[in-house]
Amino acid sequence: MSIYIGTHLATEESRPYNFHMCGIVGYVGRAEATPILLEGLRRLEYRGYDSAGIAVVNGEHQFETRKCAGRIASLAKLIARKPASGHVGISHTRWATHGKVNDENAHPHFDASGKIALVHNGVIENYQALKEQLIQNGDTDFRSDTDTEVLAHLVGNIYEQLDGKDSKARLMNAVRAALKQVIGTYGIAVVHANVPDFIVGARRGSPLVLGIGRDENFLASDVSAIVAYTRDAVYLNDFELVALEPDKFEISSLDGAAGQHAVSRVEFTAEDIKKGDYPHYMLKEIFEQPFSVRDAMRGRLSFEDCTAKLGGLNMTPAELRKITRIVLTGCGTAFHAAMVGEYLIEHLASIPTEVEYASEFRHRNTPMTPDTLVFAISQSGETADTLGALRESRQKGYRTLGICNNVASTIARESDGGVYMHAGPEIGVAATKSFTSQLVILTLIGLLLGRMRHLSTAEGAQLIEALENLPDKVQETLKLSDRIKTLAKKYVDVSGVLFFGRQFNFPIAMEGALKLKEITYLYAEGHPSAELKHGIIALIRPDLPSIFIAPEDAVFSKNLNNIEQVKARKGPIIALTSGNGAGRLKGIANDIVTLPSVPDCLMPILTVIPLQLLAYHLAVELGRDVDKPRNLAKSVTVE
Ligand code: AGP
Repeated sequence: MSIYIGTHLATEESRPYNFHMCGIVGYVGRAEATPILLEGLRRLEYRGYDSAGIAVVNGEHQFETRKCAGRIASLAKLIARKPASGHVGISHTRWATHGKVNDENAHPHFDASGKIALVHNGVIENYQALKEQLIQNGDTDFRSDTDTEVLAHLVGNIYEQLDGKDSKARLMNAVRAALKQVIGTYGIAVVHANVPDFIVGARRGSPLVLGIGRDENFLASDVSAIVAYTRDAVYLNDFELVALEPDKFEISSLDGAAGQHAVSRVEFTAEDIKKGDYPHYMLKEIFEQPFSVRDAMRGRLSFEDCTAKLGGLNMTPAELRKITRIVLTGCGTAFHAAMVGEYLIEHLASIPTEVEYASEFRHRNTPMTPDTLVFAISQSGETADTLGALRESRQKGYRTLGICNNVASTIARESDGGVYMHAGPEIGVAATKSFTSQLVILTLIGLLLGRMRHLSTAEGAQLIEALENLPDKVQETLKLSDRIKTLAKKYVDVSGVLFFGRQFNFPIAMEGALKLKEITYLYAEGHPSAELKHGIIALIRPDLPSIFIAPEDAVFSKNLNNIEQVKARKGPIIALTSGNGAGRLKGIANDIVTLPSVPDCLMPILTVIPLQLLAYHLAVELGRDVDKPRNLAKSVTVE
């Protein structure tokens, strides 16, 4: 076995275990595995980028292993120096939340014999007990601090104890038996150097998808890693294993029963996940919003009945009429969309609506009426906290629907129904187009429920007309990009930014602050404008600008009062406004950005765009890694 690792030396004290929410790619077929694995890892790098590695089986039934701390580019350099050739292999890109990032902790990990390689996403909670058990049996040669290595050793240990000439069945059984001892979550890929052309995959709580090719098959934690090679995919369920060979695959349960599977056609192509002429995915995705906003409402507007058609909810009109309460839950940007959703649904449908952080909702006793409808909002559909909230809600007997972008995701599959965003792949770690798609969908939900209650035909028709015109307004708003870039240059030296908004635009203040924090690493806070005088005003100073989201809406005058309060304390002010707002802000705000006019309830879909652009341009000015900001990962599949 030849293992080449990078040159990073461990300096931090070792921690006992690590959590991962990373990327896995596996290949078995006739082609050279390494370029396919590397390309797949590049596609997954947005999910984790602390360290990476591959192991391929060469012609002599030996592993060629290359792994190192750092980005995929570092791994690619390592491979360029020491090529790794073979037709079967597994690979991994890691994002650690606990435990140090170093070469040894990078995956793949091996069993004691060095013959079994394993990559893993998830957490083996009882790894310590398993390790002690292995050590007692004389297996002491652990090279990393990871829980994953313990699992690799366990599989190897069981493999040695099993008899049988059929080495494939033996490996399968060893993996199965090892996983039965595991408490925790996993998406894994396992290869044995002496079992040719064979990969075992398994999942529990961490996504794994199988890509079906011609005389070749793929395994990945996210279909975007393999869509360049095949669009025929099978999504594994929890507690399922797959045995993968070049020309066949077999799915079975942890108990050994043969599994059912359906082949899905992946909605997007490899072209969709390319940056094209854009320097960053984030900018590309911001500029895709006229299309993603259109796609979120495509086929969902009924001009005849002046309402929305959302068949995916899987609910009859009678059931929808009975709803007395709505809970919207999600994390991060999806949580901010939920906050706007509360305003939208209460405004349009007068149904009491609450917003809960998914991480809070899942662990507390939220009092619920029997006719409560719960929505779990998630771009990826894999966020652990949101999935936990969904499961908790369903367990308590509430109808729980998903608003997801990833159609094959766990949340999409486990919910009672829902609405897909159809925004196309979102690669930039900072969510942009998924947010505006979520807002469109929440508007449609408000419209549908509203039209079943008090909302008149005329009001429904007006909203539909405004929705129809919305993609053009989004396009118009994007023309502000150069102006925002100028502002980014002007404000590049600030120590932070405060964001304020009222009503529909209060959550946009929070979303603007989140975007800025994520990709510029600047200090930022978002608040309701009126809260300023209750404490935040103490922060006002010349190097801390305030951005007011103050369209010419029902609360414009109130916003104006707050703007004056900042002005009186010499705080710089950037105002986002619309209509005649600019005239009234002249001489008060330092910089005024005027957006197109839309009804108040749709304004957040426009006001967030200059804030996305500001975060983007400031991050570029500051030389930040826009698509892969430090410490973050695109989809947070750990608690
Ligand atoms: C958004 O910019 C963030 N990267 C993050 O807050 C994200 O919105 C959150 O983790 C939820 O992700 P999800 O929509 O995939 O569930």
